[in-house]
Amino acid sequence: MEQKLEQLKELDRQARLGGGEARIRDQHERGKLTARERIDFFLDPGSFQETGRLVVHDCHDFGMEEKRFPSDGVVTGHGTVDGRQVFVFAQDFTVFGGSLSGANAQKICRLMDMALKVGAPLVGINDSGGARIQEGVVSLGGYADIFLRNTLASGVVPQISAVLGPCAGGAVYSPAITDFILMVEKTSHMFVTGPEVIKTVTHEEVSFEDLGGAAAHNQKSGVAHFLCSDEKQCLTRIRQLLSYMPQNNMEDPAEHDTGDPADRTDAELRRIVPENPNKPYDIKEVVERVVDGNSFLEVQPLYAANIVVGFARLAGRSIGVVANQPAVLAGTLDIAASIKAARFIRFCDCFNIPLVTFEDVPGFLPGTQQEWGGIIKHGAKLLYAYCEATVPKVTVITRKAYGGAYDVMSSKHIRGDVNFAYPTAEIAVMGPEGAVNILYKKELAAATDPVALRQQKVAEFREKFANPYVAASKGYIDEVIDPAETRPKLAAALRMLETKRDTNPPKKHGNIPL
Ligand code: HXC
Repeated sequence: MEQKLEQLKELDRQARLGGGEARIRDQHERGKLTARERIDFFLDPGSFQETGRLVVHDCHDFGMEEKRFPSDGVVTGHGTVDGRQVFVFAQDFTVFGGSLSGANAQKICRLMDMALKVGAPLVGINDSGGARIQEGVVSLGGYADIFLRNTLASGVVPQISAVLGPCAGGAVYSPAITDFILMVEKTSHMFVTGPEVIKTVTHEEVSFEDLGGAAAHNQKSGVAHFLCSDEKQCLTRIRQLLSYMPQNNMEDPAEHDTGDPADRTDAELRRIVPENPNKPYDIKEVVERVVDGNSFLEVQPLYAANIVVGFARLAGRSIGVVANQPAVLAGTLDIAASIKAARFIRFCDCFNIPLVTFEDVPGFLPGTQQEWGGIIKHGAKLLYAYCEATVPKVTVITRKAYGGAYDVMSSKHIRGDVNFAYPTAEIAVMGPEGAVNILYKKELAAATDPVALRQQKVAEFREKFANPYVAASKGYIDEVIDPAETRPKLAAALRMLETKRDTNPPKKHGNIPL
């Protein structure tokens, strides 16, 4: 027995060394942790249970039979985050550059199958040169096996990807199918084709960082959701993110005692929305004052800032916040904002997280760039996402709710459950100036004093429509509220909706305009 235990110890030691001490040093010198260090930092101390530690590849080409490393370039297993079960894999760059072999793809797939069976989140830590070149199609097949599982698990268990090194070629499509992607400045890179290929094909010259670094994907492409300054911040952010989510689609998110009273009012909210309807303000200030103290975690803060999305807690319960941002592009909806919010809404709906919408939107952003870019189909994504969502939906119109955007932003007509408006709300087909220009075109052209006539008509229009009372009189708004009472009103609405049940007609799946 002694001897057998010694043999086991030696195998474990080899596995823990990954590609060896020199490569571990190299990894550290690049400012990166190893796969095992990442998992240890991420999970609750001592909770990690490894699976497949002794797996090796079975490639016999290119002298590979001489090079075998237990674990074969990926560490897999399960452990806990704040006491809740999580499955995790971490690609090990010290072994063949973390490249995906048939054997290590199988390890990942087994892990995914188990996460799905037991209904627990899956976290993937990516740091890999992609398909293991020596294994050819076996490796490509391994990727496809993973993509399939990512897709089947989508909407069943939360899936989160940290990209902590290279993630290139088709390999990017596994993180892309997952719910959230986190990247670290300078060390994370994602691209379908790298700088060299781009140079050959299009003659463009671009660096790794400019092409697919954390800033590029957080600001320009919208592929990533969080930009982190280092790996520890990234792994801590994933723990925080998980705290808002349930384990799977059959559960509700865990409650947290935040100590913030549900009936807390805030008179400051009365002064945030300016009297002048054309003056911007920061909707995040409203959100942060309304939700439980320090509970707001913004998602994609650097992308499409004209809409704000993120998780928060209200009276200790997770909510998903969607808010037009009047401080950026006047809060208009454009292509990027529509896609960003639609995906976030669908995540919340998958995982039983109620939606709270703050609305101040003058409409869709006009222009050829938007029209030719397909704002019709992209805006429809947002509308579709709100329409199909069956989680509790509560809306607060703080100011403008104009045109199609009024319908889109969780109006009661599309199954918004409880809709509030501030006294400053303006609910109309369009703003007074635009409406007057169309309605009184002939009169304005013939008028001796068109400026005075326009002013008079704008004032009349504002008096009649630029308020919440027409909508309230028709029951499209449940209550016009004092802004100071936003939090207690939302808390009461969400409490009432706790047992909400709603379904969509049976179907294989809808056909969201992609
Ligand atoms: C086998 C690989 C590998 C790979 C890296 N290595 N990528 N081994 N298959 N795909 C090995 C290297 O040979 C090297 O081994 C070690 O990992 C470290 O790599 P370096 O190149 O020294 O590291 P670095 O300079 O940091 O460059 C990292 C890299 C580069 C940018 C990732 O290695 C690279 O460009 N790799 C190839 C990327 C790629 O084109 N992959 C295929 C993408 S297509 P030694 O022993 O020399 O130290 C794809 C298809 C997916 O993945 C299919 C899904 C549809």
